[in-house]
Amino acid sequence: MKRYHLVTFGCQMNQHDSDRIRDVLEGSGYAPCETLEHADLVLLNTCSVREKAEQKLRSEVGRLGLLKRTRPDLVLAVAGCVAQQEGERLLRGLPQIDVVIGPDQAAALPRLLAEVEQGGLPQVRTEFDLHEPRFLPAAPRGRAKVSDFVTIMKGCDERCTFCVVPTTRGPERYRASEEIIAEVAARVAAGTREITLLGQTVDSYQDPLGKLPGGQRDEFSATRMGRLQRDETEFPSLLRALAERVPGLQRLRYTSPHPRHLTSALVAAHRELGVLARHVHMPVQSGSDRVLRRMARRYTVAEYRERVGALQRAVPGLTLSSDIIVGFPGETREDFALTLELVREVGFVSVFGFKYSPRPFTPALKLGDDVSEEEKSERLAQLFELSEGQRAAHLARLVGRTEQVLVEGPGERGGYTGRTERNEIVHLQAARDVTGKLVEVTIAEAFKHSLRGTPTDRALLAAEGESGSAGAAAPTAELEPRAATRRSGHRALPLLH
Ligand code: 5AD
Repeated sequence: MKRYHLVTFGCQMNQHDSDRIRDVLEGSGYAPCETLEHADLVLLNTCSVREKAEQKLRSEVGRLGLLKRTRPDLVLAVAGCVAQQEGERLLRGLPQIDVVIGPDQAAALPRLLAEVEQGGLPQVRTEFDLHEPRFLPAAPRGRAKVSDFVTIMKGCDERCTFCVVPTTRGPERYRASEEIIAEVAARVAAGTREITLLGQTVDSYQDPLGKLPGGQRDEFSATRMGRLQRDETEFPSLLRALAERVPGLQRLRYTSPHPRHLTSALVAAHRELGVLARHVHMPVQSGSDRVLRRMARRYTVAEYRERVGALQRAVPGLTLSSDIIVGFPGETREDFALTLELVREVGFVSVFGFKYSPRPFTPALKLGDDVSEEEKSERLAQLFELSEGQRAAHLARLVGRTEQVLVEGPGERGGYTGRTERNEIVHLQAARDVTGKLVEVTIAEAFKHSLRGTPTDRALLAAEGESGSAGAAAPTAELEPRAATRRSGHRALPLLH
């Protein structure tokens, strides 16, 4: 049996695409191989969102080229965003590559590999599936993941001037809501407890078959984000349909949304649906209107503030994280100071900061790249210091509180690891396997990026390593049916401010 080794770079969408590539390969007779040296096929699923990611691919291919010299029948395939962006050109620079395949072409992989194995020329497939978009459902395999991803849309119609994604992922295409609901239901029936809905602008979702109610008025007072006054998306309706039709689903998350579609209907869904996690990743990119305009983000800082403010008020204790680019062309120190101010004001508990990196085919190329590398590093360090401080303060505030932890599996040192209803990672010890269970814990200690908790249920306390400090035995919170609505919630509401 032929064996493959798959290396994934980049975002959650790419991780998810890699899972589908595995399904396709395993469905056509390949077996996974842990070590690269023993594989017959090495596949790199690439990322091109920043230049660094692309450089990584090039050095990896160089390394594999050496391996190929000693093993000429090793097949080397490049998938993902760099493959899409470069297509045939990749073969010119890196002749060791046998197959180049874009994100929409996973299903064609076995055919292309067969071609190469029979001595054919290198194969390149980078068409987008514009007319009949395919969303490969996950193949059933082994034990279901406690937390898993379901793609609801792909591509991006935004034209943020820094971003290569419209080139590498094509225009927006949406999956039928019935298909999404069926896949989520199937996963939950197989044992998955938490689903993260995936899409490049996940909250722009519309049902291509028109099965969901949409078009609610967006009631955000005087704001005009772009020209979107009526909420054209059906994303909040999809969330409601999932909550209603998959009652066994414990937690629902989504990533990554665009602030333009954080409408009053989406805020209402967060207020009312108990299944929605109390954490939202809402990329803002900059805290300066001047920079946002040059980025073509289509919102102002005031509009962003108003919308996330409404979300914070609607859901007590909800935490926010964000993506921020530093050193975008023309960003002054004053602009950057406004970004820091916004980070402080919103109180993001986590910030993914990036130095601006010019990308091929993007409109920002014509703006130059005028912030020095040194200045970008300095700004990134300041952003990091501020956001790490906010994260530490947030985690410290949780000590002593009771949290519902969805256990994802064994962690280090014999314990288990899970996440709170927001998104904090919690390590805990338990006397038996609690994977997939919702365990109530008291937070005992805060680390730099995670927490330690002690189960409140005495029966779960491990014989060793725990002090038995849980006090009176509390009823176990394992597998409690989730609250149908926020208002009827029987869970302790975190009150963070
Ligand atoms: N340079 C730096 N960061 C970028 N991102 C996207 N494009 C670029 C770029 N050209 C960041 C954005 C986005 C995240 C996934 O990557 O912050 O939200």
